[in-house]
Amino acid sequence: MEAEQEQQAFDPASFEHVPVLLEECLEGLAIRPDGTYLDGTAGGAGHSRAIASRLDAAAGGRLIALDQDPDAVQTARQRLAGLPATVVQTNFRYAADALAGLGVAQIDGALLDLGVSSHQLDDAERGFSYRADAPLDMRMSQEGTSAADLVNTLDREELARILRDYGEEPYAWQIAGRIVEARQETPIETTLQLSGLIASAVPPAVRRKDKNPARRSFQALRIAVNHELDALEEGLDAIFGALAPGGRLCVITFHSLEDRLVKNKFRRWATACTCPPEFPVCVCGGKAKAKLITRKPIEAKPDELADNRRSRSARLRVLEKL
Ligand SMILES: C[S@@+](CC[C@H](N)C(=O)[O-])C[C@H]1O[C@@H](n2cnc3c(N)ncnc32)[C@H](O)[C@@H]1O
Repeated sequence: MEAEQEQQAFDPASFEHVPVLLEECLEGLAIRPDGTYLDGTAGGAGHSRAIASRLDAAAGGRLIALDQDPDAVQTARQRLAGLPATVVQTNFRYAADALAGLGVAQIDGALLDLGVSSHQLDDAERGFSYRADAPLDMRMSQEGTSAADLVNTLDREELARILRDYGEEPYAWQIAGRIVEARQETPIETTLQLSGLIASAVPPAVRRKDKNPARRSFQALRIAVNHELDALEEGLDAIFGALAPGGRLCVITFHSLEDRLVKNKFRRWATACTCPPEFPVCVCGGKAKAKLITRKPIEAKPDELADNRRSRSARLRVLEKL
């Protein structure tokens, strides 16, 4: 009884998330009803449902949906019931293991819709939001090192590096200094405690201009807690390795660090010659492994922008394996 009162059981019906760039992803994936597809970020299964409902189970069509968050996995299992889909709780950096575990040798297309879901942001208890007070957590997988662990243990240099590298925060050094100073008095345990410290560390003029001075630092800590850039780097390699020739990879990013990583990786795969630029002729004889379907990222159209705030920073890139 006590435990029940302390922790409410998760209800999948409460998982709200509107999929972004849905039509653009479906078009990008060029779905074949008999194909095998991977959704590496199932979330509330918005994209997954749309993909799985275009598949023909009798012809061998199948979707494998992954998510590292147990709430998302529970939700996706419920929302994909009756469709040719299998949901696995894992980080997409381990996509190769997940596919091998299901006996899947190759996939015909894959989607990554990066970052956090609206559910993760809106569920204050998950500690992702600087707007609502909650324990400072931010772990998508709900295990491992939390944001509170980082802010209470890392030294000023390392904290500043995280805020600068992952949040592009111009006042990283000042904010890190304020955090280290404050935790000597009392540990930093809640989201509002941290956002208050951040606001007090930036110059008053910046505070007046920027309504949410904690936004960049919260993004940075979230990326560090979840090792998001390492997971993306490894996940892209694993998924590209599993793609069949002609298979499409669609990736939706929400900030410049992710987008740069995806853009550079796609460009390398789509480049034939790897000779230094000063060589007058190609001596490497390299062959491109992929072709870019989108040279510039696809952004949301005005209708979607008006309906869904999250779509404002969404960028979709699509690649086809050769
Ligand atoms: C933007 S949401 C996806 C929403 C989903 N496309 C939908 O339509 O409902 C991102 C999801 O990816 C998950 N996620 C983020 N990084 C992950 C990773 N490295 N491995 C597995 N899941 C990840 C998060 O837990 C979250 O549920």
